Amino acid sequence: MTGEDRFLETIEADDKVEPRDWMPDGYRKTLIRQIAQHAHSEVIGMQPEGNWITRAPTLMRKIILMAKVQDEAGHGLYLYSAAETLGVSRDELQHLLHTGKQKYSSIFNYPTLSWADIGAIGWLVDGAAIVNQIALQQTSYGPYARAMVKICKEESFHARQGYSILLALSRGSEAQRAMMQDAVDRWWWPSLMMFGPPDAESTHTEQSMEWKIKRVTNDELRQRFVDQTVPQGQHLGVTFPDPDLAYDEGTGHWMIGDIDWDEFWAVVKGDGRLNRERIAAKVRAWEGGAWVREAATAYAEKVNLRRTA
Ligand code: 3HC
Repeated sequence: MTGEDRFLETIEADDKVEPRDWMPDGYRKTLIRQIAQHAHSEVIGMQPEGNWITRAPTLMRKIILMAKVQDEAGHGLYLYSAAETLGVSRDELQHLLHTGKQKYSSIFNYPTLSWADIGAIGWLVDGAAIVNQIALQQTSYGPYARAMVKICKEESFHARQGYSILLALSRGSEAQRAMMQDAVDRWWWPSLMMFGPPDAESTHTEQSMEWKIKRVTNDELRQRFVDQTVPQGQHLGVTFPDPDLAYDEGTGHWMIGDIDWDEFWAVVKGDGRLNRERIAAKVRAWEGGAWVREAATAYAEKVNLRRTA
């Protein structure tokens, strides 16, 4: 039996492909691309929320937000480790991100203008990420699937804390309710864009579904997110910024209006509100942390030397 036969048999049987197994170059390549993008998104995603740690309204909210941002860093490290099992180094991935050759999720190029944005990010952005990541727990590549199990557990806390922020604002003053509505107006459509372009325009979906890297398509995941989120928004008393939003009794789904794919592609291609600032801040942090990496490497080499002496 050839490596390819074994690979196809593994995919067919819904088993997991492991790092030492034979895999098509294209399978390896798209996994490196997607897992790296996922990891980059977790790390860059720390910036918009980190922006509000010093301005959280209470000590408890500050503690919760710090814990969430630290979780995101951990998710990034987990996913970089999964990417490394495919034969790519973390340094290489950082270089590809810093030089624009690899992406991160478009959502993180939008500004966080008020405390309500932190609630909207937890509820909508982490909510969308959970819908996507629950499906990815069934992805065919073992290390990626296992990373998703741990990450999904923590994402649930992220979404709950965001919803809790908005629930508090929804029960507050007129000004607090207006702040909440303004944040939902700005974050609703970019959150729907997180699931990627429509299936008909998706470069990778067909092959990724065949290899069971993806188990659910972009449009199906988007629909799942809309169906679960609209009732939650009704409970908050928010109005979604979509005059075409309507419940279809026939299908049991919430139907949305047209997404502005020009905006999506502009942001993906680097012309979002904060693309340049996000990468500049990331490069500054990477360069500023070089001494820590060098010290840790020097120490590890010294310990290894002592062990082998
Ligand atoms: N932002 C940036 N680029 C995007 C994008 C987005 N929201 N959606 C799609 N793209 C890019 C793709 O990378 C691809 O470009 P490439 O060929 O140059 O890589 C192109 O648009 C075509 O899109 P496809 O649908 O063909 O691409 P995929 O098959 O990769 O599907 C995806 C896109 C659904 C986002 C998929 O990559 C995926 O599931 N990724 C893993 C999950 C992830 O990355 N989530 C991002 C957020 S993580 C997060 O939110 C953390 C939370 O804790 C806050």
